[in-house]
Amino acid sequence: MFLLVNKLSMAAKLVVENLTVRYGEFLAVDGLTFQVEEGEILGMLGPNGAGKTTTIKAILGLLPFEGRIEIAGGVAGSLEVRRKIGYMPQSFSLYQNLTVEENLRFFAAIYGVSKGEVEKRIKELLEIVKLLNRKDELVKNLSGGMKQRLMLICSMIHDPEILILDEPTAGVDPPLRRTFWEHFRELNEEGKTILVTTHYMDEAENCDRLIVMRDGTKIAEGNADEIKKQALGGELIIIDSTKNQEALQILRDVGFDSKIIEDKIAVIVDNSARRLPEVVDILKKRDVSIAYAETRKLTLEDAFLRFVGEDDAMQSNSG
Ligand SMILES: Nc1ncnc2c1ncn2[C@@H]1O[C@H](COP(=O)(O)OP(=O)(O)OP(=O)(O)O)[C@@H](O)[C@H]1O
Ligand SMILES: [Mg+2]
Repeated sequence: MFLLVNKLSMAAKLVVENLTVRYGEFLAVDGLTFQVEEGEILGMLGPNGAGKTTTIKAILGLLPFEGRIEIAGGVAGSLEVRRKIGYMPQSFSLYQNLTVEENLRFFAAIYGVSKGEVEKRIKELLEIVKLLNRKDELVKNLSGGMKQRLMLICSMIHDPEILILDEPTAGVDPPLRRTFWEHFRELNEEGKTILVTTHYMDEAENCDRLIVMRDGTKIAEGNADEIKKQALGGELIIIDSTKNQEALQILRDVGFDSKIIEDKIAVIVDNSARRLPEVVDILKKRDVSIAYAETRKLTLEDAFLRFVGEDDAMQSNSG
């Protein structure tokens, strides 16, 4: 058992244990525990104000906190780990009156990228985000999406092991969002560990694992399929028949967790594909004529709404 625990913690690039962060009296993060394994893309979801950015700031050592944070084998905020982390903040962090290239050079200098490396890195990164032909442009003259692209590569100039990206695609158009994610996956395949927050569910589907936060705590954790299952407590079969109320009672009597949703019967089961014929059979034997019966895939968005409540989710969409 001890061996196993050791092995797990050795592979973890980031361990957050019982993290609590207060702003004055206000408890923004409340006993949060999770970890990010080496080479993993972990997505953090949660409505506005859930505590995602606060958690990230604590991980970076930018805020006082209670609990334990271990990142890249060191402690939050220490010099020896700083070079191993690339951070793309949620809010704008470039120098408006410097050019694209000057911003990159500035970040390279902060992180101590060697002279020999820096030219190569700058050219490579500008090519990846297609900004090479803009390298002499002042940042203030770039479009929002271009600034976002530049922020991303500034956070990567020192070739960090771990990327911490706080809503990297907020305000980015769909083709560019796709490009960003292709790039994240490439980096990930090269071995980079990524912690990323997003309000986009299609992006969340791209993560190896997700944590869902609300009010400073973790309310769900797992891969996208596991999160969907956790939200519902299982998988879903939808049935429509000529006598739904009666059918509902029949299914409940034999122990199926069933309810009426939008005039149809929703049956929550452990394995919808396997249970479908069984459920149909039960109803047929009781002379219920079935208009249709099918398995329904829950989307991640359905699951998210169930976890955070529709009102919160609406807020986060507009935020
Ligand atoms: N500097 C601060 N002082 C006081 N309260 C703060 C401060 N920063 C954040 N908060 C509060 O802490 C809570 C968590 O905020 P945080 O920015 O971590 O949320 P988030 O999950 O990143 O939200 P979003 O999706 O909008 O980025 C919110 O209620 C916010 O108002
Ligand atoms: Mg945030």
